[in-house]
Amino acid sequence: MSKSALQIARASYVPKMPHVLNGNVQPKVGAVTTSAGNQEEIKKLFPNTYGMPIITFEQSSGEMGLENPVNVGVILSGGQAPGGHNVIAGIFDGIKRLNPDSRLYGFILGPAGLIDHEYKELTADIIDEYRNTGGFDIIGSGRTKLEDKDQFDKGLEILKKLHIRALVIIGGDDSNTNACVLAEYYQSIGAGVQVIGCPKTIDGDLKNGQIETSFGFDTACKVYSEVIGNIQRDCNSARKYWHFIKLMGRSASHIALECALQTQPNICIISEEVEAKQQSLDDIINDIAAVVVNRAEKGMNFGTVLIPEGLVEFIPAMKALIAELNDFLAHNQAEFDLVRRSGKRDYIIGKLSPENSEIYASLPEAVARQLTLDRDPHGNVQVSLIETEKLLAEMVKTRLEEWKKEGKYSGKFATITHFFGYEGRCAAPSNYDADYCYSLGYTASMLIAAGKTGYMSSVRNTTAPASEWIAGGTPITMMMNMERRHGEMKPVIQKALVKLDGKPFRYFAGQRDKWAIETDYVYPGPIQYFGPTEVCDQPSKTLKLEQQ
Ligand code: FBP
Repeated sequence: MSKSALQIARASYVPKMPHVLNGNVQPKVGAVTTSAGNQEEIKKLFPNTYGMPIITFEQSSGEMGLENPVNVGVILSGGQAPGGHNVIAGIFDGIKRLNPDSRLYGFILGPAGLIDHEYKELTADIIDEYRNTGGFDIIGSGRTKLEDKDQFDKGLEILKKLHIRALVIIGGDDSNTNACVLAEYYQSIGAGVQVIGCPKTIDGDLKNGQIETSFGFDTACKVYSEVIGNIQRDCNSARKYWHFIKLMGRSASHIALECALQTQPNICIISEEVEAKQQSLDDIINDIAAVVVNRAEKGMNFGTVLIPEGLVEFIPAMKALIAELNDFLAHNQAEFDLVRRSGKRDYIIGKLSPENSEIYASLPEAVARQLTLDRDPHGNVQVSLIETEKLLAEMVKTRLEEWKKEGKYSGKFATITHFFGYEGRCAAPSNYDADYCYSLGYTASMLIAAGKTGYMSSVRNTTAPASEWIAGGTPITMMMNMERRHGEMKPVIQKALVKLDGKPFRYFAGQRDKWAIETDYVYPGPIQYFGPTEVCDQPSKTLKLEQQ
């Protein structure tokens, strides 16, 4: 593998860990737990893994090693997030410390590798190549859903063949939900395989009282904030463009909010607020246009607008339109495919209910087409393919032209659109993510040694110096409730959306009017891997505000 100078220098970075993990540890058993909601149903569905206690590791005077080696399997599931390689390195170092003959196997391209028996042993030389690097390329990732008994049994065959005693699933809310179902199943049949989860996703929506943040959020937001800052400086230099910037995050607006806290743009839309205020697309357009007019009156025909990726699904009227489209296409895809490209728009307009048809007809051509593109494996529209940034830029332009005719506006409005998502998912992890991920992996190995299953590795108190972080495990059932998915009630981990009464949003809401009219941009610059701790080791602003 050819390496950049930074990669070579960064390889020798030693992740900081909670002090307690440097010595011998023992699990301290906390109070028994209940699920986040629907306790009776969840208890019934998870009789073997419900109600387990929270685990915290504390120092022990006894010897920690395992008499027999432990073989462990690892899966990377879903979208890439910076730091995944360090989770794997942490597991590797942890199980080797427990017994040097322990082995780590990586399943290739996500859960499919377990089902199809595609794996590779991760030896010390391989692990060393990937320490502190971004990406998931050590074994690859995939989105196959691990949810059927047949898949679990097929997986068990290879786990048994490789004498694997524990499987670590590194994934988001859905993958960890499935990890929990798998842990319950293996426990119920006495399979002798433990299952441990690790919280991953740049989207930042897997968090709760025990899981402070999902890994990758910190780095991805820092990458986007660097580029937004650069754009803002360019915009403040030329003073002639409005930049409409869409940011990844399938559903929740955590990424957009964090980037706004980092860069102080003129406008940042928060989907959760749009939904709470029942705003229409028209309301959003009017709000943005009003800021453009106010700035133009002060001679500032430039600015920045941050847009969360999932926005359209939070606008009640758009949500209803998408739901009808999902349903219609699920039943009529074959007929739709036969319609000529030029006739597709009119075909859909003719098939929808009058109110949805009207909204659909009002959308710009490109966005209307994007709404009918191929669905994801769950039948949902792929929001990352909808060019919301272009939709808003185009519609604001039309509104301003109307206002110009009415004499309400006389500025200039030129736009440039951007989408930042994939650029941040495989960046070299920030110190925060490098440390956090390594600690999560190492903690997972300690949970394995303690014989736990159905737990998520948890590292807390992460706004303090790493030596003071608290390592332990949280029962995954504790994070669950029942939700309707594809017409059926299912046990799932609650997705954490932006809380409108939470400190990060309240801080933003208190500042945004000032940021709208003043040009008070912040330029965070690139992630720094070497240098003073106040530059290199800062956690996200969201986390800092949440922990205040
Ligand atoms: P995960 O939830 O699996 O971490 O993935 C999140 C995400 O990065 C979203 O922000 C984005 O909408 C989606 O993945 C894109 O998916 P894909 O990688 O399949 O294009």
